[in-house]
Amino acid sequence: MTKLVFATNNLNKIKEVQALLPSNIKLLSLKDIGCFEDIPETQSTIEGNARQKSDYIKANYNYDCFADDTGLEVEALSGAPGVFSARYAGDHRNDGDNMDKLLLNLNQHENRKAQFKTVIALHLNNQTHIFTGICKGEIINNKLGSKGFGYDPVFKPKGYDQTFAQMDLGTKNKISHRGKAISQLITFLNTTTI
Ligand code: IMP
Repeated sequence: MTKLVFATNNLNKIKEVQALLPSNIKLLSLKDIGCFEDIPETQSTIEGNARQKSDYIKANYNYDCFADDTGLEVEALSGAPGVFSARYAGDHRNDGDNMDKLLLNLNQHENRKAQFKTVIALHLNNQTHIFTGICKGEIINNKLGSKGFGYDPVFKPKGYDQTFAQMDLGTKNKISHRGKAISQLITFLNTTTI
């Protein structure tokens, strides 16, 4: 049995991914390995932060590990909020305030193109593997829908006429940045001898 840390405490995320993995891999949460401190996320890119988190677990707890990091990149704002997505409107990390700031900053712009990007960094047998999932779409003019979290009410994925916050979770997971990155990770783990 190979133990692999998923650098999260979200047990729903862990259960969802565990169910898709070969039976010789046992996922552990941060709590399972006694990691209760904030893991540093100080890099200037999404990939850098994902690498930093998985490297931290390997260096401090000596477990093979994977970590994810996600950001919203808006074309007219040169890729902002990017790594600052969670705290765009300040360290209080409020989804409503973040969306209000985004809508205000986009007020004068016709180009509403945006994408969510998730990077997963997997530290396995002293090698790092990177999996990237992108979901392209646009920022609409006002908030629509009440499901999901973060920027979901203002993000409409390309080819759909609903925002993420109007979709059921199953539909969102199939097309989302995170869903795409996780499915690459799962394919890799299912086809690699560990
Ligand atoms: P994290 O790296 O998964 O913690 O994501 C960082 C921030 O990006 C979150 O706090 C949200 O503001 C935003 N975010 C990430 N994923 C999503 C999503 O699926 N929908 C909307 N916002 C998201």
